[in-house]
Amino acid sequence: MTQIIIRSITAEETRPLRQIMLRPHQAISELDYHGDDNEKTYHVGAFLDDELVGIASVYLENAPYKPEPKSWRLRGMAVLHHVQRKGYGKALLHACLAYIAKQNGLLIWCNARGGAMSFYQRLGFEVHGDAFEIPGIGLHYIMGRGV
Ligand SMILES: CC(C)(COP(=O)(O)OP(=O)(O)OC[C@H]1O[C@@H](n2cnc3c(N)ncnc32)[C@H](O)[C@@H]1OP(=O)(O)O)[C@@H](O)C(=O)NCCC(=O)NCCS
Repeated sequence: MTQIIIRSITAEETRPLRQIMLRPHQAISELDYHGDDNEKTYHVGAFLDDELVGIASVYLENAPYKPEPKSWRLRGMAVLHHVQRKGYGKALLHACLAYIAKQNGLLIWCNARGGAMSFYQRLGFEVHGDAFEIPGIGLHYIMGRGV
């Protein structure tokens, strides 16, 4: 079985996959998320051989449903189609959880796309509140779990 390699990457390295998998209607130059360059922000990549096939980022940011300052927001989670359902997403999420735990974080949350809801539920996230629409992208749910 091919080994999943997980390591930290730069914000710049995340952008091509953000574009391909999450925001194909936007230019790479527009895929600079707020907080990307904050020194506490963690960007992580999953590699198959030397190819970057998955990404995720976590930012120190309060969850909208809980005033817990030790909260981290997960954004830009994506795995290329040809390697989906092989454990890359789970490995990326576990790397984020390990990083947050090291920072003494207590909670992880995200705006989950409708299509990714089952993935997050499988990994212990729960839905908070009603579905909402992000224009141009679709239905989302706020989801979170403890770290
Ligand atoms: C969501 C996404 C990151 C999941 O990555 P992945 O590498 O395919 O997920 P994994 O293989 O690690 O799956 C982890 C678990 O979730 C389950 N799972 C993953 N995708 C699922 C889905 N669409 N429906 C149901 N279960 C799913 C897997 O079966 C696995 O369960 P297991 O631990 O019992 O085996 C990937 O499908 C993706 O990039 N989708 C498009 C972009 C996107 O929507 N990103 C999320 C933005 S909020």
